Amino acid sequence: MDRGDVLSGAAFTAVLRSAIVFLLILVAVGWAALTYVQNNLQTEIREDVKEHWDILAADHQTEGADSVVETIRHVRPLYVSGVRALAIFDEGRRLAGNVITQPPGEGFQRGPLDHEAPLSPAASNEFIYYGGALGGRWLVVGQRLDILQHAREAIVRTLALTGFIVVLSMLALGYFLSRRSLSRLREIEAALERTSEGDTGARIPENGGDTQIDRMAREMNRHLDRSSRLMTTTRNTAAAVAQDLKSPLGRAYLALGRAQDQLTVGADPSDALFDAQDELEQMRGVFDAYLQLSLIEAGTDNARFERVGMSALVRDLAETYSLVAEDAGQSLVTHVDDADDYEISGNPQMLHRLVVNLLQNAVNYGPNGNRICMELTRQSGDVALVVTDHGPGIPETARDALFQPFYRLDPSRTKPGSGLGLALVRAIVERHSGTIALHDNDPGLRVEMRFPSLR
Ligand SMILES: Nc1ncnc2c1ncn2[C@@H]1O[C@H](COP(=O)(O)OP(=O)(O)OP(=O)(O)O)[C@@H](O)[C@H]1O
Ligand SMILES: [Mg+2]
Repeated sequence: MDRGDVLSGAAFTAVLRSAIVFLLILVAVGWAALTYVQNNLQTEIREDVKEHWDILAADHQTEGADSVVETIRHVRPLYVSGVRALAIFDEGRRLAGNVITQPPGEGFQRGPLDHEAPLSPAASNEFIYYGGALGGRWLVVGQRLDILQHAREAIVRTLALTGFIVVLSMLALGYFLSRRSLSRLREIEAALERTSEGDTGARIPENGGDTQIDRMAREMNRHLDRSSRLMTTTRNTAAAVAQDLKSPLGRAYLALGRAQDQLTVGADPSDALFDAQDELEQMRGVFDAYLQLSLIEAGTDNARFERVGMSALVRDLAETYSLVAEDAGQSLVTHVDDADDYEISGNPQMLHRLVVNLLQNAVNYGPNGNRICMELTRQSGDVALVVTDHGPGIPETARDALFQPFYRLDPSRTKPGSGLGLALVRAIVERHSGTIALHDNDPGLRVEMRFPSLR
């Protein structure tokens, strides 16, 4: 994979931008933390210095000037490191302490001191000191500011290391994400290329992920499924139409011939004409169904979608179809929770047609005494519609093929029908973003459908 493509990928550039923003925030926060810590340390140093000066001043007041000189001589060995400065002068002459020459200025000062401890090259000679008169003498107490420099260095080092590690991890993650999305895009590109070369079976590999690209890949696969089905359908349709319409057309032709004969001999041609009309009516139904199927599959049906309460729709149709079932010596029961509307976004006419097709099949292919059942439930948040019967069922090997237009099982050739019912049912389910599956009802057929719920 080309590294340039990965680095210019959306994921990597997004992470790069975030890394820049993170660095800017880190610098701002670091600067604020540094200022805060330095100010606090300086205040603490000043307080410490002044406290020492005040203790010696108190000593001077109670014990006299010589006592202060004595105390400084005593503590001097403790101050050899050069961190602290302490000295007392008499008219510029050092009486005791570790500062060689009397520094200028009264009160708090900041600057170098002539400290007798040797200064290491890395250390700074910057002090905060307090100088003031004590009787006729001059007392200086101070502290080197090395600690400030150390704190500054520690903070800068910590922030730099944090920034480096975080930015490096972000860039590695960005590179990884960009590489992954690029390889998915390549897979999509390859599948589309194969499709454009005429391979109707080409699909984008699905990995079960839920990124935008994965969702797009799934959507494109659904689209490829639809268009390959459309292509197969178109390919098969001409032959199927010729095959399936040959008989009614032939029968209509014969009926018209009969009518003509009857007219020639002066007999009443009405029966023959009615037969011809019946056959043509059946053909019109097939063309209507096929037209609707083609429009739905091509997504050009212009159907208006609205909130549809599936519970009312199912109950209405059950009422009508229980009479149809009764006439055929069969029975129909429904299980619907009265407290739930089972609302979905849909087109009432299409959904109506879907349920009718399934019930009509159950009645058509079921034997006397067949028990048909329609059930509406909620399954993991979806609205589930299940239609079962106790008829002959459909062998597992034929289930997929039966969704193809004009496909019928051999035994059903004796019954009227065009083989468009289940194809339409599936097209309608998919138009409603639902799923459909045929199962064995042991005995009979079990049709399970799921639709995204509106609630
Ligand atoms: N409930 C069922 N039990 C047994 N076989 C069925 C059932 N439903 C459908 N089939 C079989 O599936 C075939 C296809 O059904 P489909 O509804 O697509 O077409 P059709 O019923 O033959 O014609 P149409 O519905 O277009 O009038 C049927 O011919 C039948 O063989
Ligand atoms: Mg049917």
